[in-house]
Amino acid sequence: MYLPYRRFDESEIWQIHSFYFQNIGIKAWQRGQIPYSGVSNFTEAYKKARLFVDNLKLQNHSGPIKVLEIGAGYGEFARNFLAALKEICKVEALDIWSKLEYHLSDFSQTTLDQLQASGRLDEFAEKLEYKVFDALDKYSGLHQESYELIMANYLLDQFPARVFARHKGKYYEKYLSIEDPQRYLEKQRAKSFWLWRNRWIKRLRKQHEFRELDWQSLPLNHREILETCFRSNKDSSLVYSYGSLAALKNFLQLVKPNGLIVCSDFNMSAKPGFDECEPCYYGNSVAQAVNFEFLYKYFSAQDELAELEHFKDETGSYQVALIYEDPIKPLHTLILTRPDYEHSLELGEIYKKVYHQNWLLRFLYRFLAELQLACYILVLFMLFFWLLSFGGLEWFRNTFQ
Ligand SMILES: C[S@@+](CC[C@H](N)C(=O)[O-])C[C@H]1O[C@@H](n2cnc3c(N)ncnc32)[C@H](O)[C@@H]1O
Repeated sequence: MYLPYRRFDESEIWQIHSFYFQNIGIKAWQRGQIPYSGVSNFTEAYKKARLFVDNLKLQNHSGPIKVLEIGAGYGEFARNFLAALKEICKVEALDIWSKLEYHLSDFSQTTLDQLQASGRLDEFAEKLEYKVFDALDKYSGLHQESYELIMANYLLDQFPARVFARHKGKYYEKYLSIEDPQRYLEKQRAKSFWLWRNRWIKRLRKQHEFRELDWQSLPLNHREILETCFRSNKDSSLVYSYGSLAALKNFLQLVKPNGLIVCSDFNMSAKPGFDECEPCYYGNSVAQAVNFEFLYKYFSAQDELAELEHFKDETGSYQVALIYEDPIKPLHTLILTRPDYEHSLELGEIYKKVYHQNWLLRFLYRFLAELQLACYILVLFMLFFWLLSFGGLEWFRNTFQ
């Protein structure tokens, strides 16, 4: 039996997702249900440690240096980041390491407890504090704190998002109806070993439809930005990552004036036609790739400042950089400062290189993709021309009669 249709971001799959991460603990990673090597490996962590050090060098810093990681999960990224930072500080004889406090947070107490008990991060125990923090709740947990660096790896895609399509000048929204998950949930609540191991969210039967959307019901500035994210003059679909935006606004409340926010995740650009912008299902979680273009444009637009209570009186502007970590795979990194950040954002040698190199490679890749299409069209034309002009029709008739 199917449950009634709901707006995609309000669908029951998101409740299953939250329940899963709140309860599964580090088994999710130990059993290989959640991939992490692509975002949390040493190379990715090193790039962020380097960026952090290069930005700290711009400042006259005194007192403890506080770093917050949000959605830390299995702690793989923390381990690699701390190892990279320690190495950089040692080679360059910097005193950052001795002043460092690393706050490792997740919205799941179970995950944090199990991570601490596992001893995975014992090597860095004296630097670590474990904190429960829900990225979507600005009043939870950390409101007294402020940080030099806030990082979220593979977290923005964990938040509910809406999926829109534009077709012949009208806007539509994705609605989802799923098979009733009750039997799975009951067994799961009884902690059935078999079900914890099984990835049933993917197997739940799902059906979707697009319903006409009252476009005017969205905030004006969001609408204006989203309109520029659709494919120009073509029918297309996109993800409205409003949850990721809300989380970034919460992070801005926690970062120090000269601090940095760095988020890496998988990107989803506008797709042709009525695309479902299908999420990935890992374990019993949902990962909806992020519309980074929307987030980037949101913070690049200067007149957004008034909307962010906290920075109402600031005269500066956000500095934001979007790095395509890989020209083909959709891993992206967004770097964001507060409007009162005093310096010009320093991407550092590594990110500058990645930025320029991948911008060029992406351009080439798109060009080749277009070229490939052009080649198909040319072949079709040649075939057509051959059929008409060089006795092709005759040849067909003789061969297939
Ligand atoms: C896909 S995992 C990523 C883990 C880790 N950062 C990595 O790169 O492997 C997402 C993590 O975010 C946590 N999470 C999900 N929603 C969250 C929220 N609203 N606030 C804080 N953490 C959240 C989950 O418990 C999980 O540990």
